[in-house]
Amino acid sequence: MVERVKTGIPGMDVILNGGIPKRNVVLLSGGPGTGKTIFGQQFIYYGLRHGEPGMYVALEEHPVQLRINMSQFGWDVRKYEEQGLFAMVDAFTSGRGEAAKREKYVIQDTEDLGELISIIRQAINDIGAQRAVVDSVSTLYLTKPSVARNIVMQLKRVLSGLGVTSILVSQVSVSERGFGGPGVEHAADGIIRLDLDEIDGELKRSLIVWKMRGTAHSMRRHPFEITSKGIEVFPDKVLRIGRRFTVEEI
Ligand SMILES: Nc1ncnc2c1ncn2[C@@H]1O[C@H](COP(=O)(O)OP(=O)(O)O)[C@@H](O)[C@H]1O
Ligand SMILES: [Mg+2]
Repeated sequence: MVERVKTGIPGMDVILNGGIPKRNVVLLSGGPGTGKTIFGQQFIYYGLRHGEPGMYVALEEHPVQLRINMSQFGWDVRKYEEQGLFAMVDAFTSGRGEAAKREKYVIQDTEDLGELISIIRQAINDIGAQRAVVDSVSTLYLTKPSVARNIVMQLKRVLSGLGVTSILVSQVSVSERGFGGPGVEHAADGIIRLDLDEIDGELKRSLIVWKMRGTAHSMRRHPFEITSKGIEVFPDKVLRIGRRFTVEEI
């Protein structure tokens, strides 16, 4: 029996036959505004509420802004940080600015993979993290795609090696069909793709589990919504993207 980690995102664990197999490193891929950051935050916060410490590596937004954004969904991480159950790794400010001085885990140079890995390892050990989100891993190799696989493999070794179940956010451009490059896609244990498509003058959200080592999963494209409570996935609905887009009960 595979041990599973529930995402806690309504509907998502049904699609995953119970959750993400423990220790899997999952690439969460999608274009801008598709909900990757919110998905990652919801995954972390569900863990915190259920006694599983979590780490969030912030590469794209200011840690202070991330905490504010989370609190708008009712996900207040501050009390978990104070209890040593949540770690925000600041890989955004390089230690510059007043706010950065209050951060406990700061990466000075994100080009220095050794520093990044060592601070991630320290944070995981400090809090006993069982969940991790790196948002986004693409930031680490945007200018040097040839090293992408190596970076992801090194992250995977430390995260999976320490027993952590992780989500690596991967940015793709609006029209791109892939998930973030061949090296990265093959290294990941799982791939969840979030999409935003314009249908009859309206943007519709959907997601598909492309790959998930260690489990069977839905092979369908499911619609989802983002509301003030976060993401809700509809496992009983499928979004067909053909000549016409249709949403059908299944
Ligand atoms: N309270 C909310 N209610 C509904 N939708 C929201 C809310 N907050 C954010 N969103 C939607 O989420 C999108 C941002 O999601 P985010 O996870 O930051 O995207 P990504 O990280 O993939 O770029 C916004 O563009 C908006 O459409
Ligand atoms: Mg984001």
